[in-house]
Amino acid sequence: MKLSWLAVAAAPVVAAVNMTITQKNATIAPSPLPPPGSSSQGEEIVRQFSKIDRTTKWKLVEEVPFEGDLFEPEGIVRMGDNRYFVSAGEYTVRTQKYNQTTNGTDRTTGEGFGHMIVFDGKGRRIADATISRPGSSEYHNGGIDYDGTYLWATLSQYRPNSTATLVRMDPATLEPEEVLRVHDHQGGAVHDWSSGVVLTLNWGSREASLWDLGARFPGPPAFAAAPRARVRNPSHYTDYQDCKYLGHSQRYGFRPVMLCGGITGIYDTTIGGLAVVDMLTMAPLMEVPLTLTSAQGNLVTKNPVDVAVVGGRLRFFFLPDEHNSALYVYEPVI
Ligand SMILES: *[C@@H]1O[C@H](CO)[C@@H](O)[C@H](O)[C@H]1NC(C)=O
Ligand SMILES: *[C@@H]1O[C@H](CO)[C@@H](O)[C@H](O)[C@H]1NC(C)=O
Ligand SMILES: *[C@@H]1O[C@H](CO)[C@@H](O)[C@H](O)[C@H]1NC(C)=O
Ligand SMILES: *[C@@H]1O[C@H](CO)[C@@H](O)[C@H](O)[C@H]1NC(C)=O
Ligand SMILES: *[C@@H]1O[C@H](CO)[C@@H](O)[C@H](O)[C@H]1NC(C)=O
Repeated sequence: MKLSWLAVAAAPVVAAVNMTITQKNATIAPSPLPPPGSSSQGEEIVRQFSKIDRTTKWKLVEEVPFEGDLFEPEGIVRMGDNRYFVSAGEYTVRTQKYNQTTNGTDRTTGEGFGHMIVFDGKGRRIADATISRPGSSEYHNGGIDYDGTYLWATLSQYRPNSTATLVRMDPATLEPEEVLRVHDHQGGAVHDWSSGVVLTLNWGSREASLWDLGARFPGPPAFAAAPRARVRNPSHYTDYQDCKYLGHSQRYGFRPVMLCGGITGIYDTTIGGLAVVDMLTMAPLMEVPLTLTSAQGNLVTKNPVDVAVVGGRLRFFFLPDEHNSALYVYEPVI
């Protein structure tokens, strides 16, 4: 393989990851690693997505309770039929709003841990890795993506206008390797593996940064000089929470596109939706509102989302609730 991102100098965050294994007889990741569900099926996902509209009926295919405390889930990757990887934030000391902007941000640092938690297809817990450094202010683990080799994530301070570290992990070990540091909160990562560009999203997904991993970065612990591009999000409809790379879509002139889900609080209500987004401009190419809620009353797009085509049908995987969570698997009836 001659992919440019292999040249990235990545340094381990911790010598040995702090991990609790619940199923000692199970491997953490499938071997060999499956292709990513989202980008290996990207064109078909985009084709079926184009048939969804506001009147589409949604069928609940499966509701899978996930065992144990899931803290605040932020991102999910479905790896084949029998593994789910969830990024989550455990907050031990809550952030507190300042009365005025201080050091460019609006709240205290707080304390916590960034987790990667692995479940089998029945929701049984396999492993829980703490991937932030002990005592680090960067304990918020945001939306994640999987490229067939690595899981990509951002460890950030849990406040706007702060700092972040882009990390990648071998799914079999969950050892985070630092790829680069950013002078802003970053709440999600998406890897366009065919061009070697990683997209990261800042607070509320208001701005995307595109990092060309083939370029030379000073490398951690230094801050990356500058991304190849910073792109203001032109859509103010939902704040994207978790996105998945869908490939270079023929339908959109072979531009790189991603699937994103999220919510926004506005006009005393909360709205949620899904979008296929152009990674170079952040322009939504297709978007649909979603009013489905979990049994606990949260909009299904509140937290993580993944997408795949299963048995020829488009499926979305949502994990909306904090702490006691269940995976909601939905198919649009199209
Ligand atoms: C491992 O992570 C947990 C949080 O999940 C934390 O309470 C514990 O102190 C960590 N242990 C070490 C040795 O860092
Ligand atoms: C591991 O052991 C448990 C308890 O005996 C069993 O339920 C589970 O199916 C086993 N998993 C694998 C992957 O063998
Ligand atoms: C904000 O102001 C209130 C009232 O003056 C005060 O009680 C509170 O401690 C302040 N909060 C912070 C984080 O400084
Ligand atoms: C603001 O930044 C300065 C310099 O880094 C630091 O000494 C100070 O503690 C910070 N203030 C707060 C409220 O975090
Ligand atoms: C973050 O910084 C930007 C630009 O300096 C500023 O407009 C914005 O209000 C800041 N946000 C917060 C929450 O402090």
